[in-house]
Amino acid sequence: MNYVVTIDGPAGAGKSSVARRAAVELGIKYLDTGAIYRAIALILAKSEINPDNEDFLSEALSEIKIELKQNSVLVNGFDVSGEIRTPEVDELASVYSAVPLVRKALLSLQKDQKNYGSLIAEGRDEGSVVFPDAKVKFFLTASPEARAKRRYLERISKGQEADYDEILSAIKNRDLNDSTRKLSPLSVPDGAIYLDTSDLTEDEAVNFIVNHVKEALSNETK
Ligand code: DC
Repeated sequence: MNYVVTIDGPAGAGKSSVARRAAVELGIKYLDTGAIYRAIALILAKSEINPDNEDFLSEALSEIKIELKQNSVLVNGFDVSGEIRTPEVDELASVYSAVPLVRKALLSLQKDQKNYGSLIAEGRDEGSVVFPDAKVKFFLTASPEARAKRRYLERISKGQEADYDEILSAIKNRDLNDSTRKLSPLSVPDGAIYLDTSDLTEDEAVNFIVNHVKEALSNETK
């Protein structure tokens, strides 16, 4: 029987790398739901569809086909995996993901992924809205400063330009948007295990998650 693990939390808490590695260790799939929101925001912005224009938005959403591969996202057949990882798309995704029509359109795509095998779904409302019956739920967070530092180092290591203060203020701004939007705001899901990664290494966070999931699975077979 397929099972679901959810990892929710704010931007830069280390969810993606932790979720990806935990999925490999558990031998299950990794579902990066932020990538779906990023892809849809990118295509809507490129098509100049204003987030407030409900009529255009529903028509556009009905024509967009998103496909998820293990390491890439395709929009209408085009791989946008590289294009969605920019500071501009950070902002666009935060804006479009607050639009109820957009969230509704992406709900069944996310839920359907469970039919293809056990998975770790990572995002903002995975344990609360998308998979409320998940086997184990986590909420991963870290202080805004710790998150900004990680983003800063990540950009520098890729040879990209980075300004710590700018990154910190963008993170705080996104936190505010993601946690105050009306629909599915970022929140700790009922029953979620809370993990602050500010002072943890990635290995420690991965081990924490993998051990909890293994324990939940073994308790079930007892
Ligand atoms: O995790 P990320 O930074 O790639 O997410 C991009 C944006 O998408 C972010 O502003 C929050 C939004 N998002 C969401 O609203 N719900 C999800 N399940 C995943 C992401």
